[in-house]
Amino acid sequence: MVTITPIAAACGAEVRGVDLSRDLSDELMLTLTQALYDYRVLVIKEQQLDKASYYRFGEQWGEPIPHVLDHMRMKGWPAMMTIGNTEERDRDDRTRNGAALWHTDQSYEAVPASATMLYSLIVPKVGGQTHFADMAAAYDALDDATRAYADRCSVGHLYGQTRLREDEYEVTSLASDRQVEAVPTCWHPLVMPHPVTGRKAIYAVGHGAFRIRGMSDQEGSDFIYRIKEHCVQDRFVYSHRYEIGDVCIFDTLSTMHRASPIGLPNSLHDDIARLLWRISVRGKPRVRDSLSGTTNLRNIQSM
Ligand SMILES: [Fe+2]
Repeated sequence: MVTITPIAAACGAEVRGVDLSRDLSDELMLTLTQALYDYRVLVIKEQQLDKASYYRFGEQWGEPIPHVLDHMRMKGWPAMMTIGNTEERDRDDRTRNGAALWHTDQSYEAVPASATMLYSLIVPKVGGQTHFADMAAAYDALDDATRAYADRCSVGHLYGQTRLREDEYEVTSLASDRQVEAVPTCWHPLVMPHPVTGRKAIYAVGHGAFRIRGMSDQEGSDFIYRIKEHCVQDRFVYSHRYEIGDVCIFDTLSTMHRASPIGLPNSLHDDIARLLWRISVRGKPRVRDSLSGTTNLRNIQSM
């Protein structure tokens, strides 16, 4: 039996009784899709997946996105990446901790991610959490004047543009001219109604958000940083500590996230070794194709 249990935090729910290695029925996908939009983060427990079955699950949520950091794509699986500290390239501090800052996946692209999933294969005894900020709750909590102002703002995004908090790392650097040219400045509204639920959320005020149309660089950066500080208050944040077999999927249009910094293990058996497989997708869950017009997800067609 599938159970969905809300986590006692700002957002998130734990899902049990699902085997993602099997073909998922439309009914189950609808249940998971509704749960994702209700809770913004789902932790699907006790999975045993190979790359092919995990990728098949990823494709259920949209079109998997090959990352602009093409040298970090998984060999043979261009739209998957490994995240952690177990690979040779992870010896570089900035590569290993390139997600240890508040960000929204692919917000620096014209069509950003709509969902991301992380599958946990090696879990550190300390650290290694992913922190999620509920950007819909943060929007609701803005004061009336700021909310009305934010509703009208358009934000410029550029990879690598970041105003960091003291405890944040810099994002992993782009590694080639080709990568730089692939992600020119793009613009997104500061506040977006969710394409499925219509619920408004603050969008992507972490990494990449660097200016507001009509403001000076400094004014825009100051305003974005003020909104970011509002969004990442403890009251809006759920911190997930992984167990092996967790598939953590989150709605990137109504959350921001960041990793906890991690050190360098001596071996895969070290207490601080960590390995996640990551898939980000854009577009709509495939469940819409079989259920459009028949359910309360009909608005999903606008995604
Ligand atoms: Fe991320």
